[in-house]
Amino acid sequence: MKRIIFIIFLKYLYAFNLITPIPEHIKIDKQKAKLGKYLFMDSRLSADKKVACISCHKPNEGWADKRRVSIGVFGKKGRVNSPTILNAVFNFRQFWNGRVKSLKEQVFGPLHTTFEMNMSKKDVEKFVNKNSFYKKLFKKIYHTNYITADMVADAIAEFEKSLITPNCKYDLYLKGKAKLTPLEMRGKILFKKYGCITCHNGVNIGGNSFEKMGLIIPYKNCIDDRYEITHNVLDKCVYKVPTLRNISLTAPYFHDGSAKTLKEAISNMGYYNLGIRLKLDEVKAIEAFLKTFTGELNK
Ligand code: HEC
Ligand code: HEC
Repeated sequence: MKRIIFIIFLKYLYAFNLITPIPEHIKIDKQKAKLGKYLFMDSRLSADKKVACISCHKPNEGWADKRRVSIGVFGKKGRVNSPTILNAVFNFRQFWNGRVKSLKEQVFGPLHTTFEMNMSKKDVEKFVNKNSFYKKLFKKIYHTNYITADMVADAIAEFEKSLITPNCKYDLYLKGKAKLTPLEMRGKILFKKYGCITCHNGVNIGGNSFEKMGLIIPYKNCIDDRYEITHNVLDKCVYKVPTLRNISLTAPYFHDGSAKTLKEAISNMGYYNLGIRLKLDEVKAIEAFLKTFTGELNK
């Protein structure tokens, strides 16, 4: 216990004030991104022709999914909650347990997963190469007569890169262009004082480290954790710290979708990861602060 407190203390020192604004623009290839958007929305890329990337990363649900777990092809239920893909480009790894590094590599996850889209690379290539619309676009952009699954992934990843949300109130505040309300300010102070910032920091306010869910009070439902990848006992119930950007749009929360509201998620974090019972007025203040992380989609 003492060691854990010491680690938190050290991290606290280093992480001090380390939330940084996201850039307003990042370099993307607009033509590739446009092509990627078509693919992202195309349910013909799934085994039952009914599920597209957009089925589980919905623009009006914060590019995440309101359902506790998503539903894939043939009505099959997924295992974990669908995270937002907004600002995913700033995450150091992708997936709750961080099993892939790049957005491009990530694309093959849902495509191949039997309970998501269930398509092999060959199936994907067969579909796009028979489609005159895609044939024409890929020829123009990738200068190719044969479209590979790798090119499909490349275009989708380019589209995802365009999904960044600059200019949230807190970023503007950091740049000296906006003021926080007294409630938001109180939330900001509590976020630091209690040590939320030790894990949720950096440009994505998360997305830059692996941490334990249930650091102080053990958490029970540790499905698909980092242990599944490393088989190291220290990685039991360890996940990528999720981004808190646009967090007010992406309920339900946690890998298992167990927290229905943002208040519940804040209060559970206090309990499991800091060992404290936050008071309702503290939860409300932190919630107001987290709401300042909602940005605008860069179109
Ligand atoms: C059936 C629902 C479903 C479909 C379809 C789906 N996803 Fe996902 N997506 C999820 C779930 C659930 C996760 C989390 C899985 C995990 O971490 O193990 C996820 C994770 C991700 C992540 C990682 C985000 C992060 O912060 O770690 C990205 C990026 C992503 N999906 C993009 C896509 C793309 C691109 C497609 C289409 C090729 C797609 N998804 C199709 C449900 C879906
Ligand atoms: C020891 C590191 C750590 C600390 C401290 C911590 N968190 Fe977290 N946080 C995580 C991890 C890891 C997850 C993902 C857990 C999971 O999904 O099971 C998470 C998830 C969340 C989520 C849900 C995100 C989502 O997309 O589902 C919210 C909201 C959150 N934290 C807010 C807070 C707040 C507020 C505090 C302070 C009271 C805090 N966290 C303290 C590591 C931490």
